Amino acid sequence: MRKRLDGKVIVVTGGTRGIGKGIALMCAAEGAKVIVSGRNEREGSQVVSRIVDDIGSEALFVRKDIGTEAACRELIEESVAHFGRIDGLVNNAGIFPRGTMLETTEELFDSIFDVNVKGAFFCSKYAILAMLRTGGGSIVQIGSTNAHKGAKELAAYSCSKGALLTLNRHIGVHYAKEGIRSNWVTVGWVASDGEIELHEKMGIHEEQLHEMAKTRVPSGRMQTPEDMAYGVVFLLSDESSQVTGTELSIAGGLGI
Ligand SMILES: NC(=O)c1ccc[n+]([C@@H]2O[C@H](COP(=O)([O-])OP(=O)(O)OC[C@H]3O[C@@H](n4cnc5c(N)ncnc54)[C@H](OP(=O)(O)O)[C@@H]3O)[C@@H](O)[C@H]2O)c1
Repeated sequence: MRKRLDGKVIVVTGGTRGIGKGIALMCAAEGAKVIVSGRNEREGSQVVSRIVDDIGSEALFVRKDIGTEAACRELIEESVAHFGRIDGLVNNAGIFPRGTMLETTEELFDSIFDVNVKGAFFCSKYAILAMLRTGGGSIVQIGSTNAHKGAKELAAYSCSKGALLTLNRHIGVHYAKEGIRSNWVTVGWVASDGEIELHEKMGIHEEQLHEMAKTRVPSGRMQTPEDMAYGVVFLLSDESSQVTGTELSIAGGLGI
């Protein structure tokens, strides 16, 4: 039976763990060849092994810190050199250190924007250049409920996701003619590796997060990486060929 991403080549930034790992695995299960990117070689290689050995698809780990234009260009070029083309890009890599506006230093601001905005912008730029040569493709931006005004203690992060939302609409409108789409997924609240680590530092354990979600999230639970991946696969697939510039909320009602 034909799978939803059969034959497609998909780059997932931040595919080494958390939400990105869940997306990479589901893309592979749907027939895609996956480029798993991130900085952690050990975790990246583990995801690649699961794709190759357990799922039976093809995968490549490309180690990059996407905080510079050069690294983003290399990521896309190495992906194209290996698989011959790219059909999809998931701009998932992101960092979310806490800080109110009054606590935010220039250094913190730059570190967040380098990954969440500059990385996504330049990965998109080089993905679009590659997709223009092969007749189109689909980009998915991994967003947050914080894009619209954001939690007080997530000042720079919220602004970075606001910029990503603009990037989504910009690409969605201006490259539609060339068959290049961009869509945004609003992530609700996921107990990813990063989210668990962050809360452990504050003395809050994973079970407590799930307990808090029962009252904080309208649906009564945290979302999972798989919840995100179902939406991302749809947006990468040909089923969504007329969907561009949109926002898909997978947040259990959070942020509405
Ligand atoms: N968890 C949530 O509740 C939540 C809510 C809203 C939005 N989001 C968004 O979802 C996305 C994934 O977050 P997550 O919760 O899965 O976090 P996570 O578990 O910390 O994973 C983050 C991923 O980003 C990669 N990454 C971070 N900095 C990087 C850099 N400089 N260069 C390349 N890769 C980098 C990491 O890879 P390496 O460690 O290998 O570099 C890792 O794979 C983010 O964009 C985040 O803003 C999450």
